[in-house]
Amino acid sequence: MRLVLLGLPGAGKGTQGELIASKYGIPHISTGHIIRQAVSAGSDLGQKANLYISGGNLVPDELMIQLVYERIREPDCTQGWILDGFPRTVHQARALDQCLAEAGAAVQMAIDIRITQEEAIKRIAQRRMCSQCGAVYHLKYYRTKGEGVCDICGGDLFRREDDNEETARKRLEVHMRQTHPVTHYYAQDGRLYSIDGVRSIDEVFADVENYLSGLVEGPDAGEVL
Ligand code: AP5
Repeated sequence: MRLVLLGLPGAGKGTQGELIASKYGIPHISTGHIIRQAVSAGSDLGQKANLYISGGNLVPDELMIQLVYERIREPDCTQGWILDGFPRTVHQARALDQCLAEAGAAVQMAIDIRITQEEAIKRIAQRRMCSQCGAVYHLKYYRTKGEGVCDICGGDLFRREDDNEETARKRLEVHMRQTHPVTHYYAQDGRLYSIDGVRSIDEVFADVENYLSGLVEGPDAGEVL
């Protein structure tokens, strides 16, 4: 199963990506998460990417394409993957298709989780993340059992640096200009599946599962890259 998750910042890509990964046993690959880890580690990639991420801009295509090519060739990806945050430009989408075609594979489904810009701003303002495992919570809709502590690993929760309102609005603007065209790219050949994301996490996941059940049963499921 090879999927990409699309949607505005805050749409719920990371949340749904984790649910899909745990149900279907394939890795959830969040390019935002990989970049944030690189920034905290102070690696070369992290230092380059931080200039862009902190201002709400996209990291250059060639850096991201290389990063994803390498990641999807790792052994845990042989049965497929869920890409969250990639592709974010039509150039990235084409490059991914080209790379997969060389291996006789393809992105099977692009799921677009649709929410309004105002809903995105509200969710981003109340998002908290685990500083250790990266788990995502919400102060109202997805609370931890203990105050400020991750349910999974006990790590401290924090607010992402790019989750302040000014940077979030910039991310939305960048999304509309550079990432929204990616939905048209996948719609051209029937790979785009849209979901109303302004419902509970469980209701959104029920729609995701409904779409995925067709893929799991299909003859193409489980191809190797
Ligand atoms: P990235 O980390 O990908 O950020 P994003 O796309 O802005 O997406 P978010 O992580 O903000 O939101 P999400 O859709 O995952 O929502 P979540 O599940 O957390 O990228 C960050 C930066 O990295 C970019 O700005 C860019 O600079 C760079 N970058 C990354 N990839 C790149 C690429 N390919 N090319 C170039 N640059 C790249 O949910 C949000 C909140 O809402 C949470 O609190 C959650 O608990 C809650 N929630 C989720 N679902 C629901 C629901 N149904 N109802 C109520 N609350 C919900």
